[in-house]
Amino acid sequence: MTSQPIWSPVALSNMVEPSTSTGAVVNGAELVVWRDSSGKAHVWEDRCPHRGMRMSFGFVRGDHLACLYHGWQYDTAGQCSHIPAHPQLEVPQTIRMQTFAAAERNGIIWAGATADANAALLPAERTGLVTVRSLYADCTSAKALKVLAATPLPGSADAPTVEAITENYVSLTSGPIRLLVAIQIMGEEKTALHMMATEGAPVAALARYAQDLRLILETPVAEAA
Ligand code: FES
Repeated sequence: MTSQPIWSPVALSNMVEPSTSTGAVVNGAELVVWRDSSGKAHVWEDRCPHRGMRMSFGFVRGDHLACLYHGWQYDTAGQCSHIPAHPQLEVPQTIRMQTFAAAERNGIIWAGATADANAALLPAERTGLVTVRSLYADCTSAKALKVLAATPLPGSADAPTVEAITENYVSLTSGPIRLLVAIQIMGEEKTALHMMATEGAPVAALARYAQDLRLILETPVAEAA
């Protein structure tokens, strides 16, 4: 991963159940996001140190993530602790995953750019939020921001008031509705928007708004004009 931003959203919290894993991409870097059986989230490079299999295809066993290919198991620190073909082997400390800091804030799992990313740089904690949805679009994050700022929220004819909470987290307000959008830069032309709203917001209408937003985001500028 590149060094900016320090914290990138990678999934809505409730989209990753305990004891499951999923893949995510940040600035072209492939990551595995997984929860151990206690519910704690982890973010690692999505590549097994053995033969490079995607760890997001693997399976969680208690507080270990096991690779689908040959079953090597990695503990929550990313250290390989068990190799099924050599059960008696004391696994060398050098066999370990590349890990990144993981944190949950405002209904979203955030990945640090490094293993020791500064948690003080996460967005401020807010309570009383409800999940809207994640949206994946083939567009730049700059275009996503521009369209978010120009598109009225449900029940309004005017563009929302936009507040940049951090460089990749914005608040859109229109009347009683407040939508918080975490922007995941997946690649140059790939962006994910993870949306939460303040309690009482019309979630179904916001989900439809998000669907319409995707069409706008993926419409070439010349056609949209
Ligand atoms: S590729 Fe992962 S255990 Fe072999």
